[in-house]
Amino acid sequence: MAEQKNISFDITIYDSLEELSPKYQALMLEAVSARKSAYAPYSKFRVGAAVEMDNTEIVIGSNQENASYPSGLCAERVAIFHAGAKFPGVTVKTIAITATSDAYPVSVPAAPCGNCRQAIFEYEFKQKQPIRILLMGETGSVVMCNAISDLLPLGFNSSFLG
Ligand code: THU
Repeated sequence: MAEQKNISFDITIYDSLEELSPKYQALMLEAVSARKSAYAPYSKFRVGAAVEMDNTEIVIGSNQENASYPSGLCAERVAIFHAGAKFPGVTVKTIAITATSDAYPVSVPAAPCGNCRQAIFEYEFKQKQPIRILLMGETGSVVMCNAISDLLPLGFNSSFLG
């Protein structure tokens, strides 16, 4: 029989934020606070992200919408681009992401969109160190993964460009 190779991924689900270490709880609370700066008049869906840097700095982002919808940007990319601009060359260790809605309760972990997964992948590839990812709604369980490959297997990076 032909030999197969399998790619596995590793996602841990915690029942609540209180189960995480104090450091990750604090980072997630920064992301919760960042939701307040979301500019989301169209979707009413407010996303906050907080990035922990290797120099102990925390950089935040929130979604910024636009009347021309595709011109807006997700919280994760605002945060990670903010981190790259503010602390170039400093490794990104963790990104915490949380979402809420003005219209209904969000009790499941926020799922980063494909473009945000790709942006996180680029930073991981650039820094050659994995980025831990924490996902939460307003309440409920928290997802943790230790690298973007758990959320974006077989990702595209500059190695394909020669
Ligand atoms: N949004 C994020 O900020 N992050 C994601 O990963 C998914 C979606 C924002 C974009 C838009 O402002 C709103 O949520 C609805 O799509």
